[in-house]
Amino acid sequence: MSISFKDRVAIVTGAGGGLGKEYALELARRGAKVVVNDLGGSRDGTGTSDAAAEVVAEIEAMGGEAMANGASVTEFSQMEEMVAKAKEKWGGVHVLINNAGVLRDKSFAKMSPEDFEFVVRVHLLGSAYATKACWDTFRDQAYGRILMTSSSTGLFGNFGQANYGAAKLGLAGLTKTLHLEGAKYNIRCNSLSPVAGTRMTQDIFPEQAFELFGPENVVPAALFLVSEDSPTNAIVGAGAGGFHSAWVMMNDAVWLKEEDRTVEGFAANWDKISEQSNLIAPQSGAEQSGAILKAMQQVLGADAAPSSTRG
Ligand code: NAI
Repeated sequence: MSISFKDRVAIVTGAGGGLGKEYALELARRGAKVVVNDLGGSRDGTGTSDAAAEVVAEIEAMGGEAMANGASVTEFSQMEEMVAKAKEKWGGVHVLINNAGVLRDKSFAKMSPEDFEFVVRVHLLGSAYATKACWDTFRDQAYGRILMTSSSTGLFGNFGQANYGAAKLGLAGLTKTLHLEGAKYNIRCNSLSPVAGTRMTQDIFPEQAFELFGPENVVPAALFLVSEDSPTNAIVGAGAGGFHSAWVMMNDAVWLKEEDRTVEGFAANWDKISEQSNLIAPQSGAEQSGAILKAMQQVLGADAAPSSTRG
């Protein structure tokens, strides 16, 4: 079964190089009309260049259709203009890959509030703004595919990347609510945690790993996650040829009787409360309160809990 993007209009942010460029090229090869967004800055987000126009030239040279866009994802009005131009030229927008990103790594002790804010602004707010600019169009069309770019740092942590990790887990959180709000409009939203040899990782990866983790290896996961038959609410990891899924999980709740509901009572039950058995991956926040009520019913009996709660 071949997966086509014919007649689809796709926006890829930060597509002037690295992973975004690979996504844009493959989307175009598969028939999509592609908005190549990139302000063309350096790794820390300073400066600008013609990176987007160069990728557009490559797409056109292979017979594809693309439009360069040099806007910054941090400017909501520029994101709105980008979407308006795509709709004017091609009549809609169907796919959004939020990929633009910067790094300002330092240990938290040495990180300035400005560098914390800047990184959160580009990754988290930038993705929210680009998505917001597409959202009404997706709803009106009853079709939208959104990919957020998370990271192992966001999901699991990494020394020296507090700003980046906060933003990246924020994107997984944004995915979870947009997937719920978009469901009835056929809008699907997933998160990708890539590992790739790009300028972002060139001084972190040893040379051999850099080659092994070529960004083209992430493309199959990224494109499937924005295809017509994509899942929704998935968190997928991809790099070098390895692929996996990740979940936010919780265990069964432990119900403490009133007399045990003290700091000492909590401490005495910590081993049970932090037990990694019976893990489930809730599909919405309400499942947390549901799990608490279930634990309560098991201790106090079926009549003890109200029939529903909100998380
Ligand atoms: P990259 O530095 O080659 O690509 C990022 C692109 O975003 C650059 O072309 C840059 O000019 C653009 N950009 C930065 N700020 C922008 C803004 N305000 N508006 C528009 N464009 C902007 O790096 P790479 O590796 O291709 O990263 C792509 C995404 O994947 C990023 O979100 C990154 O955090 C994420 N990621 C990458 C990993 C890796 O191993 N390379 C690991 C985990 C996540």
